[in-house]
Amino acid sequence: MSARIIDGKLIAASIRERLRDTVAAFTQTTGVTPKLAAVLVGEDPASQVYVRNKEQACTKAGILSEVHRLDEATTQADLLRFVARLNNDPSVHGILVQLPLPKHIHQITVLDAIHPLKDVDCFHPENVGLLFQNRPRFLPCTPQGIQVLIRESGTAVNGAHVVVLGRSEIVGKPVGIMLLQKGETANATVTICHRGTRNLPEVTRSADILIAAIGRPEFVTQDMVRKDAVVIDVGINRQNNKLVGDVAFESVSQIASAITPVPGGVGPMTIAMLLENTLSAARLALKNT
Ligand code: GUN
Repeated sequence: MSARIIDGKLIAASIRERLRDTVAAFTQTTGVTPKLAAVLVGEDPASQVYVRNKEQACTKAGILSEVHRLDEATTQADLLRFVARLNNDPSVHGILVQLPLPKHIHQITVLDAIHPLKDVDCFHPENVGLLFQNRPRFLPCTPQGIQVLIRESGTAVNGAHVVVLGRSEIVGKPVGIMLLQKGETANATVTICHRGTRNLPEVTRSADILIAAIGRPEFVTQDMVRKDAVVIDVGINRQNNKLVGDVAFESVSQIASAITPVPGGVGPMTIAMLLENTLSAARLALKNT
């Protein structure tokens, strides 16, 4: 194996340690302890693990966390009422509704109902609009985690060709925009690929930085990667009782210059960024009172 491993676990741990001090100083000077409210509807096993991890991470960082576990049968109207209650609770600074929601609930309607100043996921159209105009209020957690990993790995982004696999609202689209626009660890030439992309291996082989976020186990194979490319794997897929990414790690790491592992790459960064956004939301709340 020739690729350097980009250790998301280590980088996230150091961010969280620094954040703990920043939160402590914030709480001491303002008398306010940041609080995240997470809402989990139903019994999705992966979501339960994610929410528990977020809760533990908050506690370690000195951030208050409340998890609201609602029954699978909760109606959309009930969930909207619940979100409204959290919107109106001044002790809650950040609200996270864990996705996916049960099929009978319209996801966008619920996400749009979260107060934009408490939208620590950066899913609200007002916040997405601000992000797209390069004047962000919040940065979405996974894309921000990817950007920090790229920065911390010492990879030059300015002028590089970034190829993103996947056009999701949560990862593909926003990370493409963030790396495209003017700024630090940005100013790249970005191509976003999807199911309809023609000659996909040819496109991915032209990437200096390849970001895989399609949710298909080991989809990216060695022949799709240029020698010495930097590869960021956002996938978390369960295969034969083992977690694998969207990248065939063993073979691709022979050819890439740096690569993120799964687990221990992007995943831990997402949580660290959520904590940072919760602190930002507490600062915003203070500014607006
Ligand atoms: N489900 C999977 N990823 C996410 C995320 O980043 N935020 C929320 N709210 N739900 C998710």
